[in-house]
Amino acid sequence: METPAGTMTETAAGTLSRTAPATTAETAEDGLARAFDAAVAADERIEPRDWMPEAYRATLVRQMAQHAHSEIIGMQPEANWITRAPSLRRKAILIAKVQDEAGHGLYLYSAAETLGTGRDELLDKLHTGRQKYSSIFNYPTLTWADVGAIGWLVDGAAITNQVPLCRCSYGPYARAMVRICKEESFHQRQGYELLLALSGGTPAQHAMAQDAVDRWWWPSLMMFGPPDDASAHSAQSMAWKIKRHSNDELRQRFVDICVPQAEALGLTLPDPDLRWNEERGRHDFGAIDWTEFQQVLKGNGPCNEQRITQRRRAHEEGAWVREAAAAYAAKREEVTAS
Ligand SMILES: [Fe+2]
Ligand SMILES: [Fe+2]
Repeated sequence: METPAGTMTETAAGTLSRTAPATTAETAEDGLARAFDAAVAADERIEPRDWMPEAYRATLVRQMAQHAHSEIIGMQPEANWITRAPSLRRKAILIAKVQDEAGHGLYLYSAAETLGTGRDELLDKLHTGRQKYSSIFNYPTLTWADVGAIGWLVDGAAITNQVPLCRCSYGPYARAMVRICKEESFHQRQGYELLLALSGGTPAQHAMAQDAVDRWWWPSLMMFGPPDDASAHSAQSMAWKIKRHSNDELRQRFVDICVPQAEALGLTLPDPDLRWNEERGRHDFGAIDWTEFQQVLKGNGPCNEQRITQRRRAHEEGAWVREAAAAYAAKREEVTAS
């Protein structure tokens, strides 16, 4: 593969790395940095063995880790309803969805491993509060309708955020996102279908669906992160093409998608300021309560403590599986070597 600024060469390790024609004044690192910038500018993918700035690597590890943590912590609020799903069909769908989320976590931890950060290290950071997961999962699932609202709104917001990540400049992350997004579309669809059934059911079922949407609407808007002018990492991530659109742009896109869907569901979005703006060709919507967001982020949400305690317990209880897998792998290696 050619890079616009230079060529690919064989290194001592036998792998390909980017190089760029160097002028006499510049260091080898300057040349590599120039090749990296050129590859990003040309919309090429950066691969694990390519040279990359340390800050790019650190940003990716932080983002992928937070994303992976969100996938596995996100299993908890919905798993809460598996034993109480109202039919065999609903139970089968919900189990499949929760398993998908575990799979998403695995793809993403694997993608982070390509940057030299092991899964153990990332999980340890999650368990000790040094890395975060999406604050949306610190809200409780109070009724069966919450499973529908999560699918429609939370998975829906996740898709809006994640489809552009399929074009992220880092190859392993972009490729993981392709499959994740396909599965997220199914999740969004099942949530919508569940709410449609409830909304068209008895008055009590309709009220349950409306109540769930009332509680999940604002937290799902917060999933896009702080407004652009208050977002610490946005500008650099966009320059590196890790991120393709700003938080506010994605949030607006999500609102515009949801309004006609809510109408089709026969449900109301809980925002008196929500209206079509003819001039902008988009919907205006009310102010988000960022104080609530900051509080949940700080650990003061309704379920922060419960989620992390449960995660630590699951990790401890799974120790024997990890040990067995490692022993099995060592044994196979022995057999192959002999
Ligand atoms: Fe997921
Ligand atoms: Fe999902």
